[in-house]
Amino acid sequence: RERELASLYLANEYASEFFHACLTKTNMGRVAREYLASRGISDDIIRNFKLGFAPPAWDKLVQALTRRGLSEELLLKAGLVLTRPRGDGIYDRFRNRVMFPIRDARGRVVGFGGRVLDDSSPKYLNSPDTLLFNKRHLLYGLDAAIRSIKESGQVIVVEGYMDVITAHRFGFTNVVASLGTAFTPEQAGLLERCSVSQVLFAYDSDAAGQSATFRALATVRERGFNVKVVSIPEGKDPDEFLRRHGPEAFARVVAQAMPFVDYQLQQALESIDYSTLEGKVAVVSKILPVLASVGNAVEVNGHIARLAQKLNIDESAIRTEYAKYIHQY
Ligand code: CTP
Ligand code: MN
Ligand code: MN
Ligand code: MN
Ligand code: MN
Repeated sequence: RERELASLYLANEYASEFFHACLTKTNMGRVAREYLASRGISDDIIRNFKLGFAPPAWDKLVQALTRRGLSEELLLKAGLVLTRPRGDGIYDRFRNRVMFPIRDARGRVVGFGGRVLDDSSPKYLNSPDTLLFNKRHLLYGLDAAIRSIKESGQVIVVEGYMDVITAHRFGFTNVVASLGTAFTPEQAGLLERCSVSQVLFAYDSDAAGQSATFRALATVRERGFNVKVVSIPEGKDPDEFLRRHGPEAFARVVAQAMPFVDYQLQQALESIDYSTLEGKVAVVSKILPVLASVGNAVEVNGHIARLAQKLNIDESAIRTEYAKYIHQY
């Protein structure tokens, strides 16, 4: 078992070396180099994150790694290759993609994410679950961020690979990505082990990002972290925002991070015209599930009082609706 794990780490390490060499040293890698350059990624960053390129062929990785003495069986177990549907033999899982090695907290490569160079689908392909790799147990960039997180006690959680890389490039070194999954208890556990006190979520400002934020909050709140939400303006993600507006603007947005309920309340008040009675009803029904997630009655009361004031309605009316809502669930 120990030896099996060691050989899986080795396979992933060799694969990351292969992909990196394809990106940096071959003609084939040129399209990928140009793609990364167009997204503001320098050679330094390519080296630091050991980005790579999976060539547009069926068995380049298979060839390279079997030549280095790795068995087909090992490559299969590492999730790097697939078996041919008919006949025998194996072929590369990742083809014609920019490769992001995913490391554990100790910096060992345990899997990969691969991005297409255009807008074809799926945009990202990840390693399958293996003995080493399970997205739910990993935070992309944690190995690079861990020192900064421990020093500051603060972590910024983003959705994606490029968000992490661009954030680090601009000096925000306490940024990790939950890899597009709903933030899991296991990921919260990783942060706990870094003695984090404050967790900021800076997910994409699209609907998917917002609902992922909502779900993440429940997971993290249970741990007693101080949690805040960074709201990235203009329907962007941190990568796009940083590249367009720069680090000072991003720092401002981070400094304006809000406690979750305040954030939801602001969203509701911004999106709904609450001068009308219909509007007031709509705001209240939008906020009820948020209040229900708070879990502390004193806090709920405070929010209800403020909301009543804001909407210029009776507190007891909101309280009645809240009681009805809670009762349903
Ligand atoms: N993701 C994934 N598989 C997909 C889509 C997304 O694993 N098919 C994960 C990736 O880790 C991705 C993250 O979810 O980085 C966030 O998804 P999304 O916001 O759609 O992608 P971006 O990271 O913004 O990708 P890019 O900027 O490269 O377009
Ligand atoms: Mn997204
Ligand atoms: Mn998306
Ligand atoms: Mn993006
Ligand atoms: Mn995104």
